[in-house]
Amino acid sequence: LIAAAFRHQFIIPEFQDFSKEIEEIYWKCKENDSGTVASYIPQLKRMSPNYWGVSIVTIDGQRYSIGDVNIPFTIQSCSKPLSYAIALDLLGADVVHTYVGQEPSGRNFNELILDHNKKPHNPMINAGAIIICSLLKTMYNPDMSSAEKFDFTLNYFERLAGGQDLGFNNAVFLSERECADRNYALGFYMREHKCFPENSKFRECMDFYFQCCSLEANCEIVSVIAATLANGGICPISEEKVLKPESVRDVLSLMHSCGMYDYSGQFAFKVGLPAKSGVSGGMLVVVPNVMGMCLYSPPLDALGNSCRGVQFCEELVKKFNFHRY
Ligand code: DON
Repeated sequence: LIAAAFRHQFIIPEFQDFSKEIEEIYWKCKENDSGTVASYIPQLKRMSPNYWGVSIVTIDGQRYSIGDVNIPFTIQSCSKPLSYAIALDLLGADVVHTYVGQEPSGRNFNELILDHNKKPHNPMINAGAIIICSLLKTMYNPDMSSAEKFDFTLNYFERLAGGQDLGFNNAVFLSERECADRNYALGFYMREHKCFPENSKFRECMDFYFQCCSLEANCEIVSVIAATLANGGICPISEEKVLKPESVRDVLSLMHSCGMYDYSGQFAFKVGLPAKSGVSGGMLVVVPNVMGMCLYSPPLDALGNSCRGVQFCEELVKKFNFHRY
């Protein structure tokens, strides 16, 4: 980092000026008070609609944060691209995609539908993520107990975050499982159509999915994960190679086309960046080969994306030419 600073070779050389622009967008989005906080479980309903945090980490380790960046939140669906990435790394894309497709579903994230091959449309919606969890659980080292598999996966997530600790919110986990009629219905529907790998233990796979959703982190931590994805799988903070570049490429491709629920097409059109949102209001955004960002604000729009998060991205690409095209 220091050597790069002396050589003026940063990917964003005028980082202070850049941060000022980010700060301006931050304050503009703070005024946005549209949207409603998720209320399907009490633990999410309690989150303040005023929380608003932005953290940025460049691929060469420059960092900027503003707002509520230390408030812990459960990563929810932001875990989906990460478990998908781990499955790709451990099992390979060919195996993973015998079970899960690559098409946007054009429907809600928890919709009871499969594609024409009777597979989940993609790993970014609930159906696909449940199957990804079952692949990790059943096909990679199946002798690991549920506890061992949880620790193993958590360790992967933490390495993506440069070795920072993630938490686990047990109340959210229990609530998720309690209120999971739709997810169970999806699970049974998929079991009927033989979507799960052989020898899957249904309840353990479902629990594993709820556990991944209940992992807890804050903006600062999640932004490092986003930066690892921006940097082809090498964490810019620890310099550890956590994922293979080809796994990261696949993850970013599907975040680009499927990461923002049924707004993915419009988001790809307007913002042109791979991103993944979650119901807690977190958003993981990647500017490939430049930086990773985490945006956090609980109020969600009608499609389930963080209102301030989406606005921030739209403002960002008005100021900087980060749109891929
Ligand atoms: O499975 C659920 O309903 C939630 N825990 C998933 C949350 C989420 O962020 C939805 N995203 N695609």
